[in-house]
Amino acid sequence: MTLGFKNGTVLLPDGALAKRDVAIANGQIVAVGEGVAAGWPGAIEVPEGWVVLPGVIDPQVHFREPGLEHKEDLTSAARACAKGGVTAFLEMPNTRPLTTTQATLDDKLARAARSCVVNYGFFIGSTPDLLPDLDTAGPTCGIKAFMGSMHGPLLMSDPAVLDRLFARGDRLIAVHAEDQARIEARRQLYAGCSDPAVHSLIQDNQAALMATQLAVGLAQKYQRRLHILHLSTADEALWLRTHKTPNISCEVTPQHLLLDITAYETLGTLAQMNPPLRTPGDRRVLWQALRDGVIDCIATDHAPHTLTEKAQTYPQSPSGMPGVETELPLMLTAAQAGECTIAQVGRWMSENVARLYQIPNKGRIAPGWDADLVVVNLQAYRPVVRSELLTKCAWSPFEGWKLTGWPEITVVNGQIAYRDRQVHPEPLGQPLRFDPNFWATV
Ligand code: DOR
Repeated sequence: MTLGFKNGTVLLPDGALAKRDVAIANGQIVAVGEGVAAGWPGAIEVPEGWVVLPGVIDPQVHFREPGLEHKEDLTSAARACAKGGVTAFLEMPNTRPLTTTQATLDDKLARAARSCVVNYGFFIGSTPDLLPDLDTAGPTCGIKAFMGSMHGPLLMSDPAVLDRLFARGDRLIAVHAEDQARIEARRQLYAGCSDPAVHSLIQDNQAALMATQLAVGLAQKYQRRLHILHLSTADEALWLRTHKTPNISCEVTPQHLLLDITAYETLGTLAQMNPPLRTPGDRRVLWQALRDGVIDCIATDHAPHTLTEKAQTYPQSPSGMPGVETELPLMLTAAQAGECTIAQVGRWMSENVARLYQIPNKGRIAPGWDADLVVVNLQAYRPVVRSELLTKCAWSPFEGWKLTGWPEITVVNGQIAYRDRQVHPEPLGQPLRFDPNFWATV
């Protein structure tokens, strides 16, 4: 099975954008160079203005299967990924049943094998009883701990329990860092208020900073690998500048970079998510922290809810917004506007994620690496249109935004997963592997 790209502008591992051919066989990149795909079976001529990037690895998504398939399922979500240039995802445990055991992890892996057109990995969720499978179940990208913003058994808000979690085992812990006690106290202050804008006041910057500081303290106490999910505030970004150590990484979502509290006026509860949108000032500091390497990567926190669910009055309305279809064009549009470079987007959305989560052989366009690629069109600008979306929830907070860098072709494991606005009907995805040694030797 061969495929290739001729004369494309290719993002190379050193960050250069250069005219190259890419030759692919049996799921891997076999050659990158001038003329190497001439006469190569299956090679596609890349039009001027299209750019070949490593496929996006989205390290935080909620795909709702099993149990909440009316919002999304693994098939629809993975199709949306292929359309968005996302060739792999790491999915969260707040499904029904919760993914907290080897059996529930195995069930998700089996479902994904039957349904996902892109590659997949899953978190195992921590509950306060710290089930033994937390340390032994696999394959998994890590343990998810909701320090706040969660009801039921996944809520890990007790500092003593968190201390025991960090003390035990050695796999990566990814935290949703919001202080539950502070959120609950502030909820009383705004009781009876149905304006969704109060969401950002209840779950304020201080609630996020307190939880981030607690998690960082525990990671340093036990020298534990910590990943802070969806960093949202200037306060956290500024504090991490001087307190982040090599065992700690963090991410930011496109919506925390590109939307702020003014979005409630136009989007209402569609702008409601956890952690909430912040001020324009927070956005500016997050961008700078990303450019400076304080923030390591981009994740969407794709969290679909139906429009009917979202139409409920705040605070009954659920938190979360979809993102996998728009994340790459949003970031490339920001790059074209001068916020960052295309090379940075490639690093933040692919190589850095593979490195942080110890995913071997992905994140670079180089011989011997897996052929997970996306070819984007930087010639044209097209709006985000609701009727074109493949996510089952069928809405986006970015509808109407005119974006460039839309994927034209997505390649997963050396096969075309998306082209001509069509998604491949077969499940081309494979389970991601997690190997602590690979990136140490690259
Ligand atoms: O807004 C959110 N919604 N944030 C999360 O972390 C969870 C998510 C969901 O699952 O709906």
